[in-house]
This record gives sequence, structure tokens and C-alpha cells, in this order.
Amino acid sequence: MKLSEVRKKYLDFFEKRGHKIVPAASLLPENDPTTLFTGSGMQPMVPFLLGQPHPLGKRISDSQTCFRSQDIDEVGDNRHTTFFEMLGNWSLGDYFKKEQIEWMFEFLTKEIGLDPEKLFVTVFCGNESLGIQRDSESVEFWKKAFLGAGIDAVDVDFSERDGLQNGRIFYYDEEKNWWSRSGVPDNMPVGEPGGPDSEMFWDFGEELKLHENSQFKNQPCHVNCDCGRFLEIGNNVFMQYKKTETGFETLPNKNVDFGGGLERITAASNNTPDIFLIDVLEPMRLKLEELSKRRYNSTTNNNEVFLGDTRAFRVIMDHIRAVVFLIADGVTPSNKDQGYFARRLIRRAVRFGKKIGIQKTFCSEIGQIVVQTYNAQYPHLEKQQKTVLEKLLDEENKFLKTLIKGEYEFEKFFSEHGKISGQDAFVLYTTYGFPLELTEEMALEKGQVIDKKIFAEESSHHQELSRAGSAEKFAGGLADHSEKTVKLHTATHMLNQALRTVLGDHVFQRGSNITHERLRFDFSHPERLTDEQIKQVESIVNENIKKNLLVHFEILNLDEAKKRGAIGVFEDKYASLGDKIKVYFIGDSFSKEVCGGPHVSNTSELGSFKILKEESVGSGIRRIKASLI
Ligand code: SER
Repeated sequence: MKLSEVRKKYLDFFEKRGHKIVPAASLLPENDPTTLFTGSGMQPMVPFLLGQPHPLGKRISDSQTCFRSQDIDEVGDNRHTTFFEMLGNWSLGDYFKKEQIEWMFEFLTKEIGLDPEKLFVTVFCGNESLGIQRDSESVEFWKKAFLGAGIDAVDVDFSERDGLQNGRIFYYDEEKNWWSRSGVPDNMPVGEPGGPDSEMFWDFGEELKLHENSQFKNQPCHVNCDCGRFLEIGNNVFMQYKKTETGFETLPNKNVDFGGGLERITAASNNTPDIFLIDVLEPMRLKLEELSKRRYNSTTNNNEVFLGDTRAFRVIMDHIRAVVFLIADGVTPSNKDQGYFARRLIRRAVRFGKKIGIQKTFCSEIGQIVVQTYNAQYPHLEKQQKTVLEKLLDEENKFLKTLIKGEYEFEKFFSEHGKISGQDAFVLYTTYGFPLELTEEMALEKGQVIDKKIFAEESSHHQELSRAGSAEKFAGGLADHSEKTVKLHTATHMLNQALRTVLGDHVFQRGSNITHERLRFDFSHPERLTDEQIKQVESIVNENIKKNLLVHFEILNLDEAKKRGAIGVFEDKYASLGDKIKVYFIGDSFSKEVCGGPHVSNTSELGSFKILKEESVGSGIRRIKASLI
């Protein structure tokens, strides 16, 4: 199916069921200071979800253009984009779980024709401390819907170790099955609406995971595991809570907020796991092939290392499409706010264009294709075409100048220093805006490898300086002092040390947030961890847990602490403690870290340590989520 057919079928389906269809809102949110972009269909609906009556009634539906700047580094695999269209339907205190689940099942299987055998769903497993129940109600509605198609849908708890367990309905916790604009309940500000959700996944088949190069090859599959086999195509949020000072209260209405990935549903309807193969992206793809004289190779492999040119094609297609829509909604590439992202998108597109050998300016040519492709649904693109194309060309030219200047400075450094050090690369990046990847490529041409650890150290130091004094720096930390949270806190110190052992001393903590279920640790490191490194880190932590190491603290002055090799944030965080600081030791020498505590007294209390996820959270910063089992 074509994207426009899926969109039409969806809007017709909900119109027939009493919904008023509203046009897409701007990508730049109005009256919403909390966010730079419209990143989900519900954003323009917030006042109505909070209880204000909608002028068009209680049933609303739309297809909303969305931009998610936080996904910029994820683009390159077969499913992530920064720009996408989100199909949406809302019940504002009207229908609830029963109708929503029945209708979604009907829409996906009957209207779109998806095989119910390949449809899988998730629900919220409940959380006692939040006072929110396990969503067995949704499970019953899903079971009934599947039974109508002759399928006995088995419900099971998510298990990383056991994988699918012949289940079709999976219970996950709030990390996966809770939705609010700010994510999990802990992160929600007071007054924010949110609720448990029930997501739908399409199964592209086991062979994807079994691809010989897949990093997931030997892991049991579960629907959220990101191996490429399952694709989330839609999310029913049962928006019925509002965050308060002490927990949650129910909203005046029980609302439904459905969001469906239009591109993803289209890809599922064609049974192609690569969303970049849907019809609307084809003209861009063909043009890029022509300009680069290379072929787009739709690989089923999600492993970054093997993506090569494919990644570049995808980045360009996504970024130019996104920036066309952004400029048409009023953004001008610049150094701040929304303009910063527009600039970043164009610069990345140009860089990736160079990678696939495009020799001339190309952004406005690709931009024009976006305008033509989308004009029927979004006529404002054509009205803005002149501005859009001019801004694209202007920014591309500016960047090319930056590149020329950077290349000049690169050569200067090289002749003065006889090589390009990590520091030089950092200066090129911060002072001249010259991307690290290009410095690396040029250095390689001269037979030299850039020391990325030095670059990361410089970058951490820089970030440290620019963040100093900001209250945000030390926000987060421990959600509570429950036994489980304290254990995870000790595990966080062990993880920090293990990362330094495996990756090097450039690793510094950049953020930490611990709840009783998982730890989240941000640290400086320039690149994705390999499977091997993740395993090594896990085993160092687990081996040391098994050594039954004593955990104790000493009050030291700053100098002593540094001499004894303690790591941690010294100056600002502990300034208020005068020059005396608390250093926690795990074993005699395994880990020494400046910290206020609390911790367990012996590592034997921890159990087994498991890394759940490793991802990027910005340039030079990685994030690990881990738990104890
Ligand atoms: N708000 C939910 C999401 O963005 C569903 O619309 O996924």
C-alpha cells in the first residue's frame, strides 16, 4: 500500500466512527513552552486531555507531522526517523479500552489487511508503589479480538531471558508501557497527564534476527528488543492520570490517546521491514542513487557496523525531509533553539552526502522532491517552496565554507604539530565547527588515527565547565532510599569502575538516575560499546560482586581523596562540605568514589548484574540501563 492510502483508510475508519478529522498542527508547538517541536500527535491535545472541552466534541482524529530531535543519532537503521507522521485518534472522556482495542484490531487486520498471526501486543504490568494496577482489562479485550480471528492469544510477563515464551500479549513495566510527554512516571512534572499504554507490534519474521551479522543473533527475542524482527506500529495510551506532588490523581475524564506510525504501518502492509522503501521516499532514493552513482542496499541487518552507504542514504532522506517540513513551518537554520536542529540536519545530510561521493550541492534538489511528493497532502509546502529551497542552499553553502576553513586549519595543525592530536580535533570541532568524523577521515588519509579518548576527555571537560553551576547537573540521583535502590546505587559505582577498566580513564559519570527497578548511568565515551565490551563490563561487575567485597566510606579531605585515586565530581558538588568529603570504597581498591551514599555494606547483597540497554544520549555521551536480578 501507499502511504496516502493508509492515511486515508485510517481517517475514513475513524470518521465513520464519529470522529471529527482535524488538520495537522504546526511542527512548532503553540503555547507550549515545554518543548521545541511537536513530537507526538497528542501535544496539541494536552488542554483537552486535561479536561477542557474540545470545540469539535469528544472524538477527534488526525494525521500529525512530528519531529523528534532526540532520535537524530538513531537514524540509519531500518526503522528510525526524526520526522514522521503519526496517526491519532482521541476519546476525550468518551469510549475507552474496549472500543479502542476492538477498533485497532479491526483497522489493522481488516482495513490494512495485516495478518493477525503476525500481530503482537504489550500491556502495562502495574506498579504497586504508584498505586496503578496491572492492565488485565486490556488483556481480556485483546484476547477476545484475537479469538475472533481464531487465535488463542497467550499473555505472559516480559522476560529477557526466556524471550517470547509462545506468548502474544506481554506485560512490561513503565519503562515500556507508560506514556507521558516526559516519559516514565518518575520524570513527569506535577500536572502532567499520562497513563499506561498498550502497544502493537508487527512481526517481520525470525530470519531478521537470525541474520548472520546481527548483534542479536544469539539472544532470545522479545518484542521490544530492537533486533529488527518486531516493529512497533501503534500505541494506545489510556490517558487517565495526572501527576501530583505525592503521586497520581485521576483526570476528570478517562481518555484514549492513540498514536500510530504511518510509515511503519505502511511498511508492515507491504511486509517490508525497511521503512525507507515505502513509496514516498522512493523518488528521493532514486535521485540520491543518480547523484552518488551508488546503489541503496536495503539490508535487513540493523547492526551499525554493516550499514555503510545504506546508513548515509537513510540519514539524507530523513534529514532533508524533516528540514523541508521544519522550514515550511517557519524555522531558519541558526545556532539556537529550533534553528539549531535545522542546521544540524542539513550539515549531517551534507556530510553523509560526501560519504557517498556526491560532489555538488544537492540539498535543495532533494528538498524539491520532498515538496513534490508531499504536496497533495501538505499544500503549504509548495507555497513555501521558494523559501525552503533557498534556505537549504544557503545553509549548505555556509557549511561547505566551514568545511573549507576546517580543512585549511587541519592542514595548518598538521604541518605545525606533525600530526593531529585529540586536542587538535577538538579545537577544529569547537572553534571551526569541523566535524570529528571528517577530521578522522582526513587524518586517515595521512595514515594517522585520531585519539578519540583524548577528544572525549576534552569534550567532557568542556561540558563540565559549561554545565558547572547549573542546578540541573546534580538533579536525578536516587529516587528513594529503598533497599533495592541502594543496591543499584552500589552497582552503579561498580559499573563506573568496570567501564573505566574496559574502556579507559576517559570515562566519567555524566548523569545517574536510580529507581528501585533499574539504574541509568550516563558517561563520556565517543562510541557505541561492542557486545564484547558489554559482556566484559558485566562480568567485571559480577566477578567483584561474588568476591563479597566490603563497602565502606572514609571522610577525607580533597587532596587525600585525589591522591588515593578517588573518582567523582569533586569541586562543585562537595564545595558546601568544606574540604572534607566522603569517599566510598568497594573492596580495598576495586572502586573509590566520592559520594554521599547510601550503599550496601557488602557486595554479596547485590545478586547478579545485567546490562539491559546501551545507547547514545548526545555527542560523546552514552547511557547504560542495568538491573540486578
Ligand atoms: N502519545 C502517544 C505516543 O506518542 C500515542 O499517541 O506514542
